[in-house]
Parts: sequence; C-alpha cells; structure tokens
Amino acid sequence: MNVLVVGGAGYIGSHAVRALIDSGHQVSVFDNLSRGHREAVPAGLLIEGELTDGELLKRILTEKKIDAVMHFAAFALVNESVNDPSLYYQNNVVAALSLLDAMRASGTRKFVFSSTTATYGEPELIPIRETTPQSPINPYGFTKLVIERALADYASAYGFGYAALRYFNAAGAHPDGSIGEDHEPESHLIPIVLQVALGQREAITIFGEDYQTDDGTCVRDYVHVNDLADAHLKALNQLTPGQGICVNLGTGRGTSVREIVDACRQVTGHPIPEVAGARREGDPSELIADATLAKELLGWQPRYTEVQSIVETAWNWHQSHPHGYRKS
Ligand code: UFG
Repeated sequence: MNVLVVGGAGYIGSHAVRALIDSGHQVSVFDNLSRGHREAVPAGLLIEGELTDGELLKRILTEKKIDAVMHFAAFALVNESVNDPSLYYQNNVVAALSLLDAMRASGTRKFVFSSTTATYGEPELIPIRETTPQSPINPYGFTKLVIERALADYASAYGFGYAALRYFNAAGAHPDGSIGEDHEPESHLIPIVLQVALGQREAITIFGEDYQTDDGTCVRDYVHVNDLADAHLKALNQLTPGQGICVNLGTGRGTSVREIVDACRQVTGHPIPEVAGARREGDPSELIADATLAKELLGWQPRYTEVQSIVETAWNWHQSHPHGYRKS
C-alpha cells in the first residue's frame, strides 16, 4: 500500500515507518518536526508541514495516491496537558480533524489511530478490557477519546475504515540500535533510569512508594515499540469501510517501577541509586492490558514478553546515542 505516516519522525511513528518499509509498503512521512527528529526518518521520505494545512495534505494524499494514513502526530504528556490544555486540544483534536477532513476530501478512507490507555482514566478492574468504561482524568486522555468518537462517526457517515490502537506503556528501541526514544525534556521512566546508568543523572526518583501494589510502586504494562509497530501493520490489513476496530496493545503483564529499576541494574551492571519521591499527580496505581481482542481481531501478539529484553534494546540505543539523535 501507499501509506502516509503522520508523525513518522517521532518515537513510535519512526518504528512503524521501519516496519512498513521492511514489509514492502511505499511510505511517505509527514511531520512538522516540533517533537520528532529528522534523523529518525530514512532519507527522501520526509515532507515537512502542518496538519492544519489542509490544501497541502489533500495534494499529498492525491498525488501520492495514498491508500491509508497512520496518525502518530500527537502530544502525549499527561502533566503538560493539564498545564496547557489548549496545546493539546489544538494539536490532538483540531489538527487531527483537519487531517481527517483532508482525507475525506481526497477520498482516502483508511486510518490507523494512536490511542491510549489514558482514555480509560482510573479503571476499577484490572486487567483493562476494551469494554472498560472510557473515563479520562486528564486533557490528554480526553483529546484522544474525542478522536476515537469522531472516527466512529466518520466511519458510519463517510465510510472510513479505522483502527484505534490503545497503547499501554511504549518502551524499548529498534534492536539494530538505529532508532529509539529521545524526548526533550525526558519524562519517561526507562530512559531516565538509563540516563542514571550513563552517568547523566545522579539517581532515579521513584514517584510514590505507598500505592496499593505489591511493592508500593506504580505498576504499568510495558510493551515493546516494535511490537506496537507490528500491530499497525496487522491493522492495515483489517481496515473495512464503515467499520472500526478499537483494541488494547499491551503484554498483559504488569511491572512495577521498582522492578523496572532492578531490570535496568541487571542489564547495565550499574548500581543505579534511587531516591524516594512524592507521588506524581494523576498517576493511576496500576494499568495492565487485557490484549485478547488484539489477538482475536488482528492476530497480534507481542514478541517481547520479558521486560528485561525490552530494557536491553533501550540500553543498546542509549549507549550508542547517549545524547539522543542530534548530538550523537
Ligand atoms: N516514574 C518514576 N520516576 C520517574 C519517571 C516515572 O517513578 O522519574 C514512574 C511514574 O510515576 C509511573 C511510571 O514510572 O508510575 C511510568 O511513568 P512514565 O512517565 O514512563 O509513563 P506513564 O505511565 O506516566 O505514561 C504513559 C505514556 C503516556 C500516557 C500514559 C497513560 O507515556 O503517553 O502512559 O497512562 F498518557
């Protein structure tokens, strides 16, 4: 297929680009590089532009005969969304709708959307199934839910065929070490712990040790970024006009913050000092996926089932790119 990857210079998007190319698809990348990295995109594929530029998008969709669009170009930091909701509603809702309407105008109807566990809020039951009520507790989660809702309406009214993939905690890097996670500033657990191992930070601060979990720290479902990319490939083959698929993407295995720090100690051989910190506002204690539906509907199963092997790929990337893309 001819696939337009919007946000293909970002962390998860760049891994999807790689997976698409490796499977023989024709790929174009659309990104404004506000948070993505030029270096993460293979030469010749990047088109720089804004999603709100409907005319440019329509031209690209038509001239490149795009069959399907994958949309990764969203902001995804919970804290930031609380402090600056306008940024999130503009980028994650207004710009995304502009993209959908450019698709409408040019006749492109297949869409794969990066959704999130944040649409569930603080679920009462773990593991989380797709039938769990979606009740976000922050602007980020709301913006993603708005687009899920819009997609359901665009499917029935305009014949869109879509997949909304609800990621749990994306982690790791491409095993060949060429692309990986590089946020500025970094706020995610595994990169921060590995920065301690690289001597760039003194210690890891554990945000809360008094949660109702086995060791008192938050539990998350860490899923390898290449497994996420693989789910996108599989979703591409299941897009049916007028229908939508909404599935969780996780491993079904919960790992606590302390277990992540221990896995990083084992992988790096570094003692990684830790400091007890206060809870981070808005952090649910436990988020674990029931990903049975993704297996049933997409035939998807994560290949990285051990958190240690996920950390190994991340460590490989951080060692070869200690300051991310630009300064390497
Ligand atoms: N954590 C620490 N210390 C740190 C950084 C993180 O203890 O320095 C803890 C957090 O409190 C949390 C866990 O590590 O319990 C994971 O935190 P991340 O920031 O790596 O990931 P989140 O679970 O907060 O965020 C992820 C995605 C978001 C998405 C969110 C949905 O990165 O995009 O899940 O819940 F919105």
